[in-house]
Amino acid sequence: MHNSLDRRSLLQASIAAAVASTLPRTLFAADIVFADIPRSEFGFDTTADEVVAGHDLSGKVILITGCNSGLGYESLRVLAASGAHVIGAARTQEKAEEACASVAGKTTPVVCELTSMDSVAQCAKDVQALGKPVDVLMANAGIMALPKLEQVDVNGVTLEKQFVVNHLGHQLLTMLLLEQLQAAPAGRVVTVSSGGHALAPKGGILFDNLSFDDGYQAFKAYGQSKLANILMTNEITTRYAGGDSQLTANATHPGIVATNLGRYMRGGKPRDPDTPMRDGMKTPAQGAATQVYVSIDERLNGVSGYYFGDCNPEETKGNYATDPALAERLWDVSAELVEPWLA
Ligand SMILES: NC(=O)c1ccc[n+]([C@@H]2O[C@H](COP(=O)([O-])OP(=O)(O)OC[C@H]3O[C@@H](n4cnc5c(N)ncnc54)[C@H](OP(=O)(O)O)[C@@H]3O)[C@@H](O)[C@H]2O)c1
Repeated sequence: MHNSLDRRSLLQASIAAAVASTLPRTLFAADIVFADIPRSEFGFDTTADEVVAGHDLSGKVILITGCNSGLGYESLRVLAASGAHVIGAARTQEKAEEACASVAGKTTPVVCELTSMDSVAQCAKDVQALGKPVDVLMANAGIMALPKLEQVDVNGVTLEKQFVVNHLGHQLLTMLLLEQLQAAPAGRVVTVSSGGHALAPKGGILFDNLSFDDGYQAFKAYGQSKLANILMTNEITTRYAGGDSQLTANATHPGIVATNLGRYMRGGKPRDPDTPMRDGMKTPAQGAATQVYVSIDERLNGVSGYYFGDCNPEETKGNYATDPALAERLWDVSAELVEPWLA
């Protein structure tokens, strides 16, 4: 199982032993560790517009969750401008319509409120009703570090809200759209994770405490949900990549980006556009580059189960994100939680 990760671990171990003390200063470890993965010419400063430059995405269908703000909105804008038919999902019809109407190109607004599995299932139905393969599911929507514990009831089970919004709703959406993704010539699931996956609690995913009733901490819960974004793409790789289907799944992290994501720590206020950028921060145009690159670049056909930052493969942090047993268990537990909506 987990072919690409097994290959990667073997490659990493043998290469690390061989070059540990002799690495020339001009060679970066990532170039060697990911020797079997195409590297792009892009980097920290690259914008999503630069990633799509020269690409004609006509005929591609791309579904983006959280299309009305930050990274999702920038992705919607550049992908639609490049000819893709972008299905823009937002929590309400008004938000989805407003976002889609404000960009050039072919778009379809849909509702996807990720705290409601009924809404996720209806979103999948709306997408299926278009009668087209889905080339990309960009699982972008997210919430971060809710100061106080918030919970969602899913079929009688109480779950911490970041786990539901950031991960569970996206797993249901993926499962319901699997046929459409597999019908595309090179279907892709792209999650927008975060370097914050390193903040996940001991054990990675708290299967016995998914409500987080016990010991809630805002960034631990966020870290768990962002780790889940990586584990989900790894498990899709194990289950569905290769073989007849050209489906791939990869996780991305955008960097630290000036979007509205910090609103939960600001009592709900969106980011003031006049707030100066801190060192090391990206604009939304730069932040969206990696998820757009992993969604469309043809060099990545067949590449699955990896984690990308600055438009290139990167190492995840800690041991949980590459643990195949954890990925399998998360998929199974999540599938069980959303089972009523899978029928
Ligand atoms: N910004 C960063 O520095 C950073 C760093 C690492 C990772 N990320 C990841 O990037 C992704 C996009 O975040 P962003 O920075 O663009 O933040 P953002 O500007 O706050 O956008 C978040 C999007 O998610 C949507 N959303 C929130 N709750 C939802 C729900 N219950 N159902 C459906 N959609 C919901 C929001 O809709 P509403 O506007 O209607 O609430 C919004 O469209 C997130 O997954 C985040 O974890 C961001």
